[in-house]
Amino acid sequence: MDRIKDAIRTIPDYPKPGIMFRDVTTLLGDAGAFRAAVDAMVQPHAGKKIDKVAGIEARGFILGGAVAHQLSVGFVPVRKKGKLPWQTIGQSYELEYGVDEVEIHVDAVEKGERVLVVDDLIATGGTAEAAILLLRQAGAEVVGCSFVIDLPELGGARRLEKLGVKVASLVAFEGE
Ligand code: PRP
Ligand code: MG
Repeated sequence: MDRIKDAIRTIPDYPKPGIMFRDVTTLLGDAGAFRAAVDAMVQPHAGKKIDKVAGIEARGFILGGAVAHQLSVGFVPVRKKGKLPWQTIGQSYELEYGVDEVEIHVDAVEKGERVLVVDDLIATGGTAEAAILLLRQAGAEVVGCSFVIDLPELGGARRLEKLGVKVASLVAFEGE
């Protein structure tokens, strides 16, 4: 996991003072670290039946697409509001200031399909929670979530576990 953690760049004071931004573009650009991350995101869910991977816009598309390919299953884009062309269902979630909304197509999953949710990072868990609620509303069973980065101080993993979803992350950044 050191290899994965070392491949993530930290940018202090971005996008505003006091924030330590964890930049996965450096990991994505490192062939070995990218492959190791995708393998490690799949591993905690090995043995489960998974029908689809749902990736959360935007960085979750890159990792989720690779995880779906690895599992030889289909991919569901969970998009920010207003981007999908067909009929959608939406779920809003709170940001530090204001609200945002994610959407999926009404027919993105079939009833009872078992879905793994993938994103680059979990902070408060608000975005992933919205994705889980949306997939459940569409009839899917969310069998787990995989993230590269967890920021445990923000409590996101606990929030998702309260929904009864198994959460896996590869590296944690805490007070550093
Ligand atoms: C970041 C990150 C996660 C989300 C985590 O995405 O990629 O998707 O925030 O935060 P949360 O756990 O507090 O909800 P962002 O909304 O910045 O958008 P992007 O992926 O499109 O850059
Ligand atoms: Mg994101």
